[in-house]
Amino acid sequence: MKEITKALKKLNSGVVLVAVASESHKANAFTAAWVMQVSFNPVLLAISINPEHISYDIFKEGRRCTVNVLAESQMEFAAHYGQSGVADKMSLGTWLESDSAVPVLQEALVSFECQWLNEVAAGDHQVVICEVIASKILNEGVAMLYSDTENMDGSAELVAEIK
Ligand SMILES: Cc1cc2nc3c(=O)[nH]c(=O)nc-3n(C[C@H](O)[C@H](O)[C@H](O)COP(=O)(O)O)c2cc1C
Repeated sequence: MKEITKALKKLNSGVVLVAVASESHKANAFTAAWVMQVSFNPVLLAISINPEHISYDIFKEGRRCTVNVLAESQMEFAAHYGQSGVADKMSLGTWLESDSAVPVLQEALVSFECQWLNEVAAGDHQVVICEVIASKILNEGVAMLYSDTENMDGSAELVAEIK
C-alpha cells in the first residue's frame, strides 16, 4: 500500500450512511467517511460526495439528507451501501421517514437531518455544506472508524501518488 494511503487512514473519521430522497427519485443511501462538523452556530456539516454517485442528483434535487452514524459492529451496512447500482438498495436495515420524508436508519447510533445550503467543487468530489435541522439519538454503542473499513472504498487504488 502507498505511504499516502496508509497516512490518510490515520486522519481518521467516523463512517455514516448518507440517505437522500426527492420527488422524482426513489430514496437512496451511500456510505461516507468524509463528513465533518464545520460550524457551531448554526450547526453545519460538510459532506464530500462524488458527483457520479446515484445519490448526488437525488440530493441536489431533494435538498435534504440524513446522516446516520454507524456502530463498529455494522460493517455489513458500510459494505452494502458502499456499492452503486444495487437492486433494492434500501432493503438492508429499517428505514423510517423523517418529517421531511428522508429515510432515517433505525439501527444507527444517531441521525442528523440536514438541509443543503451550498456546494463547493473539491477535486473529484463536491463538498456540500448542510445545516442540521434535527438530530436523534437512536442506539447506544461505539462509532465505526474509517480505518476499520481498510480498503472497502478502494482507496488504495484511487489515491493519487504524491509528487
Ligand atoms: C468506507 C467507505 C467510505 C466512503 N466514503 C465516501 C465519501 O465520503 N464520499 C463519497 O462520495 N463516497 C464515499 N464512499 C463511496 C460510496 O459509498 C460508493 O461509491 C457508493 O456506491 C455510492 O452509492 P450510490 O451511487 O448509490 O449513491 C465510501 C465507501 C466506503 C466503503
